[in-house]
Amino acid sequence: MEFQFSNRVLKLKPSAIREIFKYASDPSVISLSAGNPAPEAFPSKEIAEISERILAQRPIDALQYSITEGYEPLREYLTDYMKKMHGIGRDFDNILITSGAQQVMDLAAKSLCNEGDVVICEAPSFIGSLNTFRSYNTRLRGIPMDSDGMNMEELEKALKEESNVKFIYTIPNFQNPSGITMSWAKRKQLYALAKKYHVLILEDNPYGDLRFHGEHIEAVKSLDDAGLVLYAGTFSKIISPGMRVGYAIGPKELLQKMIVCKQGQDVHTNIWSQMVCHEFMTRYNFDEHLKKLQEIYLKKSAIATGALDKYLIPKVTYNPIEGGLFLWCTLPDGVDMLDFCKQAVLRKVCVVPGNAFLTDDSAPSQSFRINFSTPTDGQLLKGIQILGTLANEMITN
Ligand SMILES: Cc1ncc(COP(=O)(O)O)c(C=O)c1O
Repeated sequence: MEFQFSNRVLKLKPSAIREIFKYASDPSVISLSAGNPAPEAFPSKEIAEISERILAQRPIDALQYSITEGYEPLREYLTDYMKKMHGIGRDFDNILITSGAQQVMDLAAKSLCNEGDVVICEAPSFIGSLNTFRSYNTRLRGIPMDSDGMNMEELEKALKEESNVKFIYTIPNFQNPSGITMSWAKRKQLYALAKKYHVLILEDNPYGDLRFHGEHIEAVKSLDDAGLVLYAGTFSKIISPGMRVGYAIGPKELLQKMIVCKQGQDVHTNIWSQMVCHEFMTRYNFDEHLKKLQEIYLKKSAIATGALDKYLIPKVTYNPIEGGLFLWCTLPDGVDMLDFCKQAVLRKVCVVPGNAFLTDDSAPSQSFRINFSTPTDGQLLKGIQILGTLANEMITN
């Protein structure tokens, strides 16, 4: 059968870069390309205990259909927690539990974007979100990144030039893929620009709790006194991505539309997973758990940066990081980055080429992304050592 695909998805193609990802599932390949939490970071014992209790004591609640807005005790607890801990959420806001943060991006785009509308993104940015925005036939406008977040002059220029911007998408903490954290000064500037140009900010914060150096910086949403920020949170990186529980906090009117859109997508987020997240936050020591994760990633990031310093510096540089799961490495001009990534795969190490994260993935990039959370310590050391040997061979001066 010859399918007549919709205009919306007609131009969506698997990227050529995906060829490289195919190798990552080969067990003999060291994958530094995933974005998964460390296997030892999962609270498996606690999840087993909670699940047993839920299924023994409240099986119907866990197994029956539920409401689209989300499990009420989790909604209430999170609303309170985010307000108390992070100053997020005002009277004009509401909360919606979603199937991961990814669904927040999808529901936002579905609710707001017409074909040809502009979404302003950091360049580089998270592929999953870019592809979601692309699937609504939006036009992506990338804003280059400084070491402390989006370049604000470029952002203002874009806001002046583009007439139909639907939102500015930002990942302010330990950005995927660049690892960059937006400074407090820039968060305030970003919010002021959103106010000046009457544009919504979509703030995606999956890594905020995974800070292992430096001081916590409050979310852009904490500044929101005018209902201009839609905040996306998730349990993927702090409990489990397989459970698919995320949430949106944003203006009631927008959330109401997103709820209607979600009804048509998956009716509601897995109710058993929501109950587990709620019990884990309320009956266990959640702060201690977050501290444990921060220790795991501090150790892993130190192994990765130690190996980079030993084997790749000065030929390859990397962005300093204060948290999260990624390191963004840059090759000198004149070295073919895609060739470097392909040669690495032939030596059984997989990294992600930087152009995969650009709004125009055919644009040149000298960078590649390394993930340090998923590989074992031994794989990290060996993988980076192999990259170092390759860099030495490819970069002669
Ligand atoms: C920046 C960013 N946003 C969203 C997501 C999706 O997270 P979730 O598993 O909650 O859908 C990821 C996952 O890697 C991510 O890196």
